Amino acid sequence: MTTRISRREIIKSSGLLGAGMLLSALGGFSKVEAKIGAPKKWPWPYEKLDPAKTAEIAYEEWYRVFCGAAVISSVFKQLGEKIGEPYKSFPVDPFIVLEGGMAGWGTICGSLAGANIVTNMIIGPRIAGPDCEHGHIIGSNIMNWYSNTNLPVYIPRNPRANKEKIVQTVSNSPLCHISVGKWMKASGFPLGSPERKDRCARLAASVAYKLVEDMNAWKDGKYDEDLVWTAAQSVGITGQQNCTECHGTNIPSAPTGR
Ligand code: HEC
Repeated sequence: MTTRISRREIIKSSGLLGAGMLLSALGGFSKVEAKIGAPKKWPWPYEKLDPAKTAEIAYEEWYRVFCGAAVISSVFKQLGEKIGEPYKSFPVDPFIVLEGGMAGWGTICGSLAGANIVTNMIIGPRIAGPDCEHGHIIGSNIMNWYSNTNLPVYIPRNPRANKEKIVQTVSNSPLCHISVGKWMKASGFPLGSPERKDRCARLAASVAYKLVEDMNAWKDGKYDEDLVWTAAQSVGITGQQNCTECHGTNIPSAPTGR
């Protein structure tokens, strides 16, 4: 699937190159290609995955690379084993930056960022044609589901904390700060506690579970939901649903026109 330049083509077009330079160029090509040779055609190959198995991987991976990278890893690790490339050489670990709402700034929940990255990587970016729109739709609708669901829902096989029971909260928001904040307030556990860590690991697992359910439905041609929430169209500004939490009862209406 990668654009391969044959040895012969390189030799033909490189009359001025010395043999040594040519060899090192070829060596360079194969190394770079192996690392970043991702296809630019979508969708990428996808095989249906087991949601519970995916959630287990996400839960365990959270303790290594945190929420965003854990969600990406839970899907790409399995597809790397089942399919191979481009998943096998996809660098998951740098997505550790999604942790804590992007480098700890409490913006988008990393699990949600990870899920959106997975759908847009596999199904494709929406500019790649109508077939790829589902990448955007599934990712966006998972944000809506997350905002309106009592989370976390997934119970891992070997929970590291909250073993008897876990406090669940509805965030009404895709923001890490608000999601974690409401849970900390409801449970009384601080950020550094094993309970809060287990909660976020379960959240990554819950998102990974939902992500794979939706991706499997898409694979079967059975994902027929449209976008549930398009802030710009409904309220004239990019946004989330919990207007009153920040604006109180004085929700401004966006200026119209260009
Ligand atoms: C996480 C907090 C938060 C949420 C949630 C939120 N806003 Fe805002 N919004 C702000 C802040 C802060 C500003 C900056 C202006 C200000 O200080 O009032 C702003 C600005 C705006 C503006 C542009 C400024 C103006 O007065 O015209 C509009 C319009 C707006 N918000 C509408 C909404 C609507 C509608 C919703 C819900 C769909 C919403 N906001 C949800 C925090 C929030």
